[in-house]
Amino acid sequence: MKIELYHASKFGNGAKVAEELRRVMEAKGHQMNVHHIKGADPKKLPPADLYIFGSPTRMGKPIGGMRRFIKKVALPPKTKYAVFATHGDAAPDKKTGKMPTEQEMERWRKTIPLMDEVLKEKGLVKVADKKFYILADTMKGPLKDGWQERVKEFAAQIEP
Ligand SMILES: Cc1cc2nc3c(=O)[nH]c(=O)nc-3n(C[C@H](O)[C@H](O)[C@H](O)COP(=O)(O)O)c2cc1C
Repeated sequence: MKIELYHASKFGNGAKVAEELRRVMEAKGHQMNVHHIKGADPKKLPPADLYIFGSPTRMGKPIGGMRRFIKKVALPPKTKYAVFATHGDAAPDKKTGKMPTEQEMERWRKTIPLMDEVLKEKGLVKVADKKFYILADTMKGPLKDGWQERVKEFAAQIEP
């Protein structure tokens, strides 16, 4: 497969995930290019068998640049895509010390469903998604332990 990945990493964690995924996919014999959305033209994406979009999260949503990028993506219906998001990990509430529930966390993790909405509207077909977590209480990372394992799981979803 030829794969083109576009990410909007701000602090480098998503970029690290993208590079590791490239390493894993290339070891499986695929060809993959990684790009930051900055400077890329969403209306002129190079031909590929699969496109991967990766975004950091801002107030539960994909970062603005990625929201604008995928809205403009021009690809034929039935094109395959995968998505990943980077998220802050859950942390205890500073006042109460209580951990947020899964439901409470999901409110701040709508990055993937929101990207799906836009891409599916264009008739694109999803093959995989994955969330990656950075250490709690940090906005900049590093990624939480086990992230390389999650990259492998994502790669296996893309191509078993
Ligand atoms: C202003 C701001 C708001 C954020 N809001 C969220 C959020 O709602 N949910 C979440 O999971 N992470 C949130 N984060 C953490 C980001 O997800 C994290 O910085 C990002 O995933 C790191 O990826 P990057 O290194 O590729 O930029 C926020 C970060 C910033 C700076």
